[in-house]
Amino acid sequence: MDTVSPVAPPHQEASSPQLKITSAKTLAESTNLASIPSHYAFTTPTSGDQAVHPDHDDSIPVIDFSLLSSSNPDQRCKAVSDLAKACEDWGIFMLINHGVPESQMKATVDVLMGFFDLTEERKNEFQGKHLLDPIMYGTSFRASVDKVFLWRDFLKMMVYPKFHCPPKPEGMSEVLAEYTGKLRKLARELLKGVSESLGLGPGYIDEAMNIDSSLQILAANLYPPCPQPELAVGLPSHSDIGLLTILMQNDIGGLQVHHGGKWVKVDPIPNAFVVNTADQLEIMSNGKYKSALHRAVVNNKTTRISIPFSTGPSLDTVVVPAEQLVDGKHNQATDISMNYKEYMEFKQSTVLHKGLCLNQVKI
Ligand code: OGA
Ligand code: NI
Repeated sequence: MDTVSPVAPPHQEASSPQLKITSAKTLAESTNLASIPSHYAFTTPTSGDQAVHPDHDDSIPVIDFSLLSSSNPDQRCKAVSDLAKACEDWGIFMLINHGVPESQMKATVDVLMGFFDLTEERKNEFQGKHLLDPIMYGTSFRASVDKVFLWRDFLKMMVYPKFHCPPKPEGMSEVLAEYTGKLRKLARELLKGVSESLGLGPGYIDEAMNIDSSLQILAANLYPPCPQPELAVGLPSHSDIGLLTILMQNDIGGLQVHHGGKWVKVDPIPNAFVVNTADQLEIMSNGKYKSALHRAVVNNKTTRISIPFSTGPSLDTVVVPAEQLVDGKHNQATDISMNYKEYMEFKQSTVLHKGLCLNQVKI
């Protein structure tokens, strides 16, 4: 279920430098598009892949951030144990009462939508060549080598330790600097709770992961309406690379998480963030908190935007399992001894379409 394979023959032209790659947005806006080009069609359809709504008695956990940051020890203690359960059972939760104003969330969605509305020429100035380019605009995953294209356009920016952002549209830089500043504080507090929830004391992750010089990336995924959503894929099954991802989305569903052997729909809750555990947290927790497998499907009605904010260790941190969590049961998959930069390069060089997870990264 985690693998998606192309129905079309490998898209020969895609790897040729002469090919003019079209964004999903431009394609979606071309008149009379009744069906998708064959190089967007997957044999394993995602939306038809029996994704379910969560059960009443097994629903996606909700964490109240105001309780996690409460000065009342009982409230905090309960919030930390809820967090432990959410990370262990699901690897994904909704975060409410997080203190980021609704107006700021909306302004962030608006400026990023505005970026995708720029001309292709302007956006293509940010076509990145290398994973560690500070700003990268593109379509699919890596359109120059992808065999089957994903129905999404994206923009990725490194926002910490140094803040990077395209200068256009006007005002985007200010809005995103403010938003990512807030998320940086939120991520740090959340990681304190996560650290405590692992029995490590609130400062362990902060120190061991060098959060002071944490690599933080803000991305935006644009999924335009798609005439054949059951054939196309937004993002195939994958896990995220950092420690935690805090995702904001407009009110259009599409995100799904793998839980209990099924794909479960993550229905948006207004003004809530979706937080998921990522690879470096799996490594440092010695596999106690698994990096959540998730994917995004597309729809034929409305443009969906998702805005993930990834917090990782610093680029030179070699993440290893916390000694207290090894306890004789050493989880082999977490034995990878690469620094974060090498891990990123390694993961990017393998094909996302294979539903890569940590076990496959093990060397
Ligand atoms: C991602 C991601 C999910 C979504 O960008 O890594 O998982 O809903 N996005 O777009
Ligand atoms: Ni992801």
